[in-house]
Amino acid sequence: MNKRPRDDPSSSFGSAPKRQYGAGGGYGAQQGYSEERNSARRVADHYSARSNQTLEERENSPIIHLKKLNNWIKSVLIQLYARPGDCVLDLACGKGGDLIKWDKARVGYYVGVDIAEGSIKDCMTRYNGDTDQQRKKKFSFPARLICTDCYEARLDEYLYEDAPFDICSCQFALHYSWSTEARARQALANVSALLRPGGIFIGTMPDANVIIKRLRESEGLEFGNSVYWVSFGEEYSEKKFPASRPFGIKYKFHLEDAVDCPEWVVPFHLFKLLAEEYDLELVLMKNFHEFVHEYMQKPEFTELMRRLGALGDGRNDLSTLSQDEWEVSYLYLAFVLRKVSRHLPFLILLTSELNIQFGNTFYFHSEGNRLPNGDPTM
Ligand SMILES: C[S@@+](CC[C@H](N)C(=O)[O-])C[C@H]1O[C@@H](n2cnc3c(N)ncnc32)[C@H](O)[C@@H]1O
Repeated sequence: MNKRPRDDPSSSFGSAPKRQYGAGGGYGAQQGYSEERNSARRVADHYSARSNQTLEERENSPIIHLKKLNNWIKSVLIQLYARPGDCVLDLACGKGGDLIKWDKARVGYYVGVDIAEGSIKDCMTRYNGDTDQQRKKKFSFPARLICTDCYEARLDEYLYEDAPFDICSCQFALHYSWSTEARARQALANVSALLRPGGIFIGTMPDANVIIKRLRESEGLEFGNSVYWVSFGEEYSEKKFPASRPFGIKYKFHLEDAVDCPEWVVPFHLFKLLAEEYDLELVLMKNFHEFVHEYMQKPEFTELMRRLGALGDGRNDLSTLSQDEWEVSYLYLAFVLRKVSRHLPFLILLTSELNIQFGNTFYFHSEGNRLPNGDPTM
């Protein structure tokens, strides 16, 4: 760890710098720019308005086991990749639901950034141990919280004193950056600029292959079950997605007791290519179902699952994830990227100079074998 830990946890509510940045960056037409601003605001307002639940409300949630499963997946990622003393950058940190996980990993310093003012305030309250339902104990690491748009602001300008970070996390939020190419690039530029070489980027987001497959299987432009629905607009009535327009593929997502706002499809193979342009190489990508099956083979994570209670506790508590909740978890994937060093062999440099052409054909993979299906569109 370099210059940390700091001894004064601080928060900052400054407005975002208004500079454009990143290869191919800029928002293009002013109209598109303000439209994207409105979408980002809608997302922020939605999350800001969500109040902190009491323990009782949480336990009565129709998706309580899904929430516990999601927490297990995030905990496994953190336990696998965080090291004691690490400096952590938590993009779209929300209400600080992962603070305890980072504490258990004994990290040295934490910076959380989120666009939603209400969430940042709740996160600060949780960090300070002021909520009645959370533990009173203060966290062992110093922290800084910032309220800004992670996909518009140049975070290196906010965080030049704090960087480099050892690990960056973006849980259930990176898809909000795929509304435009400029925002997707800014998200990756921020991660790349702030991670040290060899640093790790962990995250979770919707699995575009599954979402598009479900859409194509459904009769109309909507699909879902008792706890969620996804709805695409009429512009997608043919259920085709031109390869020339991989950004801004918007759908509405509703998840009981959790989400109700616009989201954007992230074609993972393009995300991987774009990340490589920012010196971030893929280490792992797994749909949540595959992730659960694989890491439940490891005794330490089975025990963690038992303690979190997503599948009951294996003893007295026989309650478990419903079929509908399990279906929701199939909509998501976990990923891990590593920041490669610019000083590594020329092969890696060659890869990082790969400028992807979005005019090319690209695919959504079929569900079973995940091989391209040969469609001219994704
Ligand atoms: C589903 S919540 C996840 C919160 C947290 N990462 C977790 O796992 O508990 C999505 C979060 O993304 C945040 N978010 C969405 N767009 C954002 C943006 N442009 N910049 C920063 N945060 C954003 C929302 O405010 C919200 O807190």
